[in-house]
Amino acid sequence: MDQSHNSILVFAGSARADSFNKRLARLAADRAREAGGMATFADLRDYPMPLYDGDLEREQGVPEHARRLKALLADHTGLVVVSPEYNGFITPLLKNTLDWLSRPDDDREGLALFRNRVACVLSASPGGFGGMRSLALARQLLTNLGVTVLPDQLAVPRAAQAFTDAGDLADQGTRERLDQICHRLVETLNRLNPRAGR
Ligand SMILES: Cc1cc2nc3c(=O)[nH]c(=O)nc-3n(C[C@H](O)[C@H](O)[C@H](O)COP(=O)(O)O)c2cc1C
Repeated sequence: MDQSHNSILVFAGSARADSFNKRLARLAADRAREAGGMATFADLRDYPMPLYDGDLEREQGVPEHARRLKALLADHTGLVVVSPEYNGFITPLLKNTLDWLSRPDDDREGLALFRNRVACVLSASPGGFGGMRSLALARQLLTNLGVTVLPDQLAVPRAAQAFTDAGDLADQGTRERLDQICHRLVETLNRLNPRAGR
């Protein structure tokens, strides 16, 4: 697949079927498309990986699902990471996934995959703060990998009541904020690659 200049990979750091963060990730992908971008939602349930283990890597190399996700990321220039919060932290699933993605594969340097990519971070939680403590950590991790993370971010609190039956966000202000963030991401990608915005 050719890499489009405003193609955005969206995934959440939760695998569970009813994940609030996956709901938010799917919405973000919709909004990015409405803003004129191309967006792919990847469900990490479809990319199961063992916990990172240097011996396993030495013996068997990067796991197949990590290679598949690396290939998918290579086809996208933008990234939306939607992070649940576990004990004030990003989830082990998110950290493990990004750790595997950062590993070199064959002769390719792992971190090259993240350079020149632009991301934004979102979170959702049934709690009152929307998992906002995980946002700073997801931002820091992506920055360490070489990704440019936009300042705009969104934490969706009381997630059990935050979505309508149709799957949209119930609160108009939150809907508008998500719209704005996704527009800004697409706009930034278009500006960095002006031909794609025409
Ligand atoms: C180990 C563990 C720790 C958690 N810690 C927090 C927390 O610090 N803050 C918070 O808002 N929710 C916390 N939660 C609740 C999660 O936000 C909730 O399970 C949420 O639904 C997970 O995201 P998901 O719906 O996308 O799977 C925790 C859940 C687990 C399993």
